[in-house]
Amino acid sequence: MDFALNETQQMILDTARRFAKDELMPIAHHTDKSGQFPAKQIKQLADLGFLGIAVDEKWGGAGLDNLSYAIAMEEISAGCASAGVIMSVNNSLVCDPISKFGNDDQKRKFLKPLAEGKVLGCFALSEPGSGSDAAGMRTVAIKDGDSYILNGTKNWITNGKEADICVLIAHSDPSERHKGISAFVVDRRETPYGIGKVEDKLGIKGSSTTSLIFEDVRIPAANRLGQEGDGFKVAMSTLDGGRIGIAAQALGIARSAFDEALIYSRERQAFGKYIGDFGAIQEMLADMATEIDAARLLIWRSALAKDNKEKFGKLSAMAKLYASEMAARVCTKALQIHGGYGYVKEYNAERHLRDARITEIYEGTSEIQRLVIARETLTELAQAGS
Ligand code: CAA
Repeated sequence: MDFALNETQQMILDTARRFAKDELMPIAHHTDKSGQFPAKQIKQLADLGFLGIAVDEKWGGAGLDNLSYAIAMEEISAGCASAGVIMSVNNSLVCDPISKFGNDDQKRKFLKPLAEGKVLGCFALSEPGSGSDAAGMRTVAIKDGDSYILNGTKNWITNGKEADICVLIAHSDPSERHKGISAFVVDRRETPYGIGKVEDKLGIKGSSTTSLIFEDVRIPAANRLGQEGDGFKVAMSTLDGGRIGIAAQALGIARSAFDEALIYSRERQAFGKYIGDFGAIQEMLADMATEIDAARLLIWRSALAKDNKEKFGKLSAMAKLYASEMAARVCTKALQIHGGYGYVKEYNAERHLRDARITEIYEGTSEIQRLVIARETLTELAQAGS
């Protein structure tokens, strides 16, 4: 097994790391404090090709592999977790399903500007009354001639305020559960929908989280992604890929917290020596370094499986489960190493912990990741036995 990156992957890593250091780290504190969308930096990410990393060059993307995407996500999130999730949603939850399920007209119209970063996308699955139970959604898309008429409310939509293009999952046949669900692309500039309040969150404050309100919004039937009734599978397979991005976001946040704690341990003195010379601190640093590396291996393995067109849903669930819970542990230790300074906003440690926490919730809670992993493992056992 070869863990070495190829020339392109190394170039992506170097470029993303430099960009994070020069452009994101200097604004991350202000972004958190002000809650301002980092528009200039997102435009720069678009210019780097980072908003459509794995999209075919024919459709405006960088045409790279999913490992490159995971590498870039780690670096960008190490710089600014808000920029990380804005990028992740555009890549995994919007470009990816249109690449996979869209026809050429949809790719020309929606995917190209999304991958080029000319417009931003969002993904609308969850609702006020359904999150983990995704098939329990109430939003409907009722066919009417050459149109669908949308009614309902979507919740927790990352990029909701800024996005012009929305991948929407809704019931086209409300009498069915998941088999009555379809996927659509909605262009807000052509068929406007309402934006609800912008949530005031614990972390990732530079990315907007809103509800989307659909009241008799008529969209062309040509905007349906895939066949009627396929929407639940579109959503589930999209989330399989999205979880690689969020796992890499968690990894980037944890690495940033670790790097700063490591430096602090060589600067801060107590009892006449650097705190990094004490066994108690070294134990924490050793556990943090090990867990960060373990998460990276899981993430790279799931990205490679996706690149190799192998089944990767269980692998990406494992990567997200471990990386997100690891990030919370590592950020807690990083805060602890900083002592009182870790608890105040002058240092980054408390921000990293706040930013990390959401990775255990969005794109499937840890409980859902465990459910996906357990179900798949039991299926594998049953198949091995048959
Ligand atoms: N890929 C393709 N198809 C899949 C699939 C996958 N990964 N997982 C399930 N399916 C299919 C099943 O094969 C089944 O199809 P058939 O009927 O043809 O056999 C169908 O989907 C229904 O599957 P289940 O019976 O397993 O469905 P379920 O209702 O029990 O739910 C679940 C499964 C895994 C719990 C799912 O509801 C789930 O993933 N929930 C979490 C949702 C989630 O992650 N939400 C995050 C929102 S996005 C976000 O966070 C927004 C943001 O902006 C960041």
